[in-house]
Amino acid sequence: MTVPHMTVLVVGATGSIGRLVVEESIRQGHTVRALVRTPDKARQLPSEAQVVIGDVTNPGTLAGAVDGILAVVFTLGSDGAGKVGAENVDYGGVRNVLSALGSRTVRIALMTAIGVTNRTGKYNQTTEAHDWKRRSERLVRASGLPYTIVRPGWFDYNGPNEHRIVLLQGDSRQAGDSSDGVIARRQIAEVLVGSLRSDHALRKTFELVATTGEAQKDLDAVFAPLDADPQDSLDGVRDMANMPLNDEPKRVRDDLNEMTRLRLPERGARATTRRSNLGGQGDKLA
Ligand SMILES: NC(=O)c1ccc[n+]([C@@H]2O[C@H](COP(=O)([O-])OP(=O)(O)OC[C@H]3O[C@@H](n4cnc5c(N)ncnc54)[C@H](OP(=O)(O)O)[C@@H]3O)[C@@H](O)[C@H]2O)c1
Repeated sequence: MTVPHMTVLVVGATGSIGRLVVEESIRQGHTVRALVRTPDKARQLPSEAQVVIGDVTNPGTLAGAVDGILAVVFTLGSDGAGKVGAENVDYGGVRNVLSALGSRTVRIALMTAIGVTNRTGKYNQTTEAHDWKRRSERLVRASGLPYTIVRPGWFDYNGPNEHRIVLLQGDSRQAGDSSDGVIARRQIAEVLVGSLRSDHALRKTFELVATTGEAQKDLDAVFAPLDADPQDSLDGVRDMANMPLNDEPKRVRDDLNEMTRLRLPERGARATTRRSNLGGQGDKLA
């Protein structure tokens, strides 16, 4: 599903990345729907953006946000809200928006973070933010929707001439500081929005960093060499297999089952196989 103009819902639209995603979407000719928690914050957005008031932790507020959209960009963040925030916003927010879509097919761009598969570092031990963001990635993969998952490096730690995009896979940079990679916020927005209409970005998960040099003009050529995630895998290609499905909380396995069920009629027999296998097959869906 690649169309030139879409109504794009931005979830996290008032955040440091979301604001730039709103601007970039408008620049690329899309109609933008911005999910905003409070009317006050909507004032900082461009007047072209359609504002919908809602909270991702309250599913009842999301129907208007998803009405008529063809794409969603998730840039949610619950920084400072600890484990509960990570579960309810970074993970639960993605689940609730995907659920609100019902059986409709829309293109997804999800932002998580470089190092998201690092479970043992101090940051994840304290916040569980990596684990919940990774589970949000898994929901997106289980949904069967066309997606791109972007794991940016450290925001705006790049030097003035570090704009050449480098996409990595396997999430092997896990120092937990800017030595893992740096990237300008504006380029994160460009990659998220650019992925929405690129067939070369489909079913791909990658870390996004920049090195010395000019930004590439053609994002398709940057996405094209990447490997797609294996069909029916819960994890990104070459990710560490350190989150076995059998050890996951029951509520998380239930959510994965529900994600698969939502689009069963469209996805036919393979989805049925997936559903029946969830809960007992390691990190594979089928
Ligand atoms: N800093 C880095 O170098 C770095 C690198 C990689 C990844 N990351 C990840 O990027 C994320 C931060 O991105 P950012 O700087 O754009 O975050 P941010 O500025 O804190 O924005 C977070 C967005 O999420 C929205 N939000 C939070 N709870 C919500 C809810 N219940 N319902 C609806 N919207 C809600 C916020 O809305 P309000 O405006 O109403 O609060 C805001 O729009 C973090 O999670 C971090 O892990 C950061």
